[in-house]
Order: sequence, then C-alpha cells, then structure tokens
Amino acid sequence: MRQPLVVGNWKMHGNAGGIRSLMAELIEAEGAFSGAEVGVCPPFVFLPMVTELCADLSIRVGAQNVSQHDNGAFTGEVSAAMLAELGAAYVLVGHSERREFFAESSETVAEKFLAAQAHGLTPVLCLGETLQQRERGETEKTVLAQLDTVLAAAGVEAFANSVLAYEPVWAIGTGKTASPEQAQQVHQILREHIAVKDPAVADALRILYGGSIKATNARALFSQPDIDGGLVGGASLEAGQFAAICASMEN
Ligand code: PGA
Repeated sequence: MRQPLVVGNWKMHGNAGGIRSLMAELIEAEGAFSGAEVGVCPPFVFLPMVTELCADLSIRVGAQNVSQHDNGAFTGEVSAAMLAELGAAYVLVGHSERREFFAESSETVAEKFLAAQAHGLTPVLCLGETLQQRERGETEKTVLAQLDTVLAAAGVEAFANSVLAYEPVWAIGTGKTASPEQAQQVHQILREHIAVKDPAVADALRILYGGSIKATNARALFSQPDIDGGLVGGASLEAGQFAAICASMEN
C-alpha cells in the first residue's frame, strides 16, 4: 500500500513574511490531510525557517534543486550534504524548468539523483514531455528515455528510495491539466517499465502527477490507480487550495 504524497513546489516565490503566513494557515489545516504525507519545497534561503516552523509537525520539507557535486569550487551551488544538514527530506531533480532554462541534461539529473540519495535525501525525479513531443506521439519515448538515463546510472534498487513525478510540460503553469485518463496512462507506462526490472520496487514506488493541479481537479486525478499524489506549483502558494488538494487523497 503506497502512502499518498502531496508536495508543494513554491519555485522562486515568496518572502519571509508571506511564507510565515502561508505556513501558519497550512499548520492549522494539517489535521485534514487524510493520511497523505505532505511536503513543501521553499527556495533554498527559506529552508531553515520552514524546517523550524515544521519541527513538531508531519509536514516535511524539501529543496527544489541540488548540486551534483559533493563540495568544491562551484559558485552558487548547494550540496546534498548541506540540504541534509538543514533537515530537508526530499529534493526535486529534473524539474522541466531546470531542464529547459538551466540546460540540465538527463545525465546531470541522474548525477543529482545519486548525490541526493548518497546523503539520505529522497529524490523526486520529474519527467515529462513537451506539447510538440505529445503531438508527435512521442510521450512514451520521451518519459522512458528520461527515466532510463537515471535507471542506468542508479540501478532499479535505488528507486525504492525515490519518488517519480510525471509532469507534462504543457500542463505546468498553463492552467491546462492532463485528463485523469491521460495522466493514468503515462503513470502506468512508468510503473510497468520499472516492474520489468523489479516488480516489488515498482509496486511500492510513488508516482506523483504535476501540472496545474487545483482543488477542483485533484480528486479525479488522485482517484486513478497509478497516481499516488501530486507535485503542486501555483496552487501550493495558497494555503486554502493546497490544504484542499492534500485533503483530496482518498486511498
Ligand atoms: P503548476 O506547477 O502546478 O503551477 O502547474 C507544477 C510544477 O511545476 O511542479
């Protein structure tokens, strides 16, 4: 039985005051999360503050990015060891905004995945096709190629301590959500692909959907058999919306 997981990705939004109010509202709503594991990913600089605010709560904290390097002369980078020291539980790797705007290749994403795991963080590996790739009928090929690069580098056993997030690029921040059927189809493909290598790992692996999740569409998405929760961007910045999404998990 996979415990549902909902993770908020705040991206590069917020300030100390706004984050304090958002967290205060979320903390108040915590009782209504229906057994889902809930995490938030603030910008790096707010990690200590949010970790402290969540200290006695079930809400966990993650980062949005991590360096593939352990330490050294890498100006501007943050290592997995540093994130672990701050109390982060997860880290997003391979978000499409990192792949697109910061030219992260699947090989770099695989290195980040390994770096995160080496320091006890759970990588949330993001995968997804662009609109052009979907229209060309290349959705499956695209997400499996992204997954295979990490599988080749880390091995299937590593997926026992990771989370996948299927995020169609055309659905991120656009208000266009994949239909529950479209999302389920890809989630099933991803799970079956892992199952060929290790059925037990595939069965236990949580696969989140991300892309314009809102309180109004979360329940239909989360009721699909291979959708184990969500990676939520815009709607995670509104406590009421995010709490309602977290409370939409039924399984
Ligand atoms: P969105 O972002 O919910 O605003 O579409 C999702 C994400 O980028 O993880």
